[in-house]
Amino acid sequence: MNERKDLPRADTEAQEAYIARMRAENEAHTAGTGETRHAFVLTFGCQQNEADSEKLAGMAKAMGYVLTDAPEEADLILVNTCAIREHAEKKALSIVGQYKHLKAKKPSMVIAVCGCMVSQEHRKNELKRSYPYVDLVFGTASLHRLPQLLCEKIAKGKRLFCPEETAYTVAEGLPIHRASDYRAWVSVMYGCNNFCSYCIVPYVRGRERSRAPEAIVREVEDLVAKGYRDITLLGQNVNSYGKDLADGCDFADLLARLDRIEGDFLLRFMTSHPKDASRKLIDVMASSRHIARQFHLPMQSGNDKVLREMNRHYDTAKYTETVAYMREKMPDVTLTSDIIVGFPGETEEEFSDTLAMLEKVRFDMLYSFIYSPRKGTPAAAREDQIPPEVKSARFERLLATQNAIALEKNQPLVGKRLRVLCDGVSKTNNALYSGRTEGNKIAFFEGTPEDTGKYVDFLVERADAFALYGRKV
Ligand code: SAH
Ligand code: SF4
Ligand code: F3S
Repeated sequence: MNERKDLPRADTEAQEAYIARMRAENEAHTAGTGETRHAFVLTFGCQQNEADSEKLAGMAKAMGYVLTDAPEEADLILVNTCAIREHAEKKALSIVGQYKHLKAKKPSMVIAVCGCMVSQEHRKNELKRSYPYVDLVFGTASLHRLPQLLCEKIAKGKRLFCPEETAYTVAEGLPIHRASDYRAWVSVMYGCNNFCSYCIVPYVRGRERSRAPEAIVREVEDLVAKGYRDITLLGQNVNSYGKDLADGCDFADLLARLDRIEGDFLLRFMTSHPKDASRKLIDVMASSRHIARQFHLPMQSGNDKVLREMNRHYDTAKYTETVAYMREKMPDVTLTSDIIVGFPGETEEEFSDTLAMLEKVRFDMLYSFIYSPRKGTPAAAREDQIPPEVKSARFERLLATQNAIALEKNQPLVGKRLRVLCDGVSKTNNALYSGRTEGNKIAFFEGTPEDTGKYVDFLVERADAFALYGRKV
């Protein structure tokens, strides 16, 4: 067991002093020139990164920057990167490449790149070498030090590449600028100890560390008091929450404590690891008032040999048993999963086992990924990599299988009335409003601006594999 370390209060206070310094400097600039300084934050990757970016934005605002959606308007650009697959890294690098022109037009601009991708030495070096207009680079463990790093960078006028921190901590009390006023992320733990053989996360986010339950309860109480309706607890491996806590509070205990909070809100959590999806957790969910009947439980593969080689610590029998218990306790639970196709050495038969598991378990939705070798992970060093065209062909077959299942899972909802939290005009279909059901399914309907952020009663009139369509009743 690793000992949990909170960032010492003195360190947070030091950052607060740097925030005050930057704020004074930005205010003096505005007083002198009449111009406001702007910050632009761009996020790649998972919800954990979204949550981190809300802290980056919170710190930027506290430092006196006005947030903007226009990078060309910014005086500070923060790119929060992801390393989970090559595609995510390529995209981030390509966007950073485009900022070269912005910097040429406005040399005073500070371009910072942070997050998972640059927590890898080789990517940090690449930025140092090939992206000379990038001013500041820092990894996930240094996120809370943005104010200090920015002050140092500006004072010295030199590029700054923050060395990896040796100690990963839990930093409480950072300012947060939340992107929504009715949906919220709450990180409850950071890091991962699992070292799945394909995955980069443990290398870029450090070991598991849990926030104190009291701090989480306070944060959720505060959100509910402010009118937040949908609160998602986040962790790379959220259901191993508490293993490093002295008071023995595990994830099910945490959920039970949060469920006691009064108010009209739903709690969700992600991502759970099947090895830690205990009956106790499922029991707490089933008897709860606020926990959405929705479970994201990444299976990764439907073949036991592949699961062993992935270092997942469960087999298909254990997975099936967990799902059976979940459905016994919550027959209407929405179940979603992640699958990787083309893991090194995956044979045709092993892949067929995954398709067979999909037919057996029948997920409501699936996030499917083509295996992407990650430098430094055991799977990437294997010689039996699957050729790209085989991976793509398997990926297509997986999608076809899953789409048919998802359609069959959604069809029976036609005619049902569901409560939907409205997100406003749909980003994919401007003619309609969209929202999410308790099961986190997307619902489309004709709405009004007043619906945004509110629950609407929704009658399902039509369903496809990806969404529900209907009207307000
Ligand atoms: N901590 C979570 C999420 C990890 S990242 C979990 O354990 O489930 C989200 C998903 O990305 C993973 O579930 C996995 O399906 C996928 N993934 C991780 N590494 C990958 C890689 N190298 N190539 C392709 N997909 C990957
Ligand atoms: Fe990656 Fe596995 Fe940790 Fe998830 S549990 S973040 S897949 S190492
Ligand atoms: Fe990507 Fe880091 Fe999340 S690698 S998926 S942003 S934890």
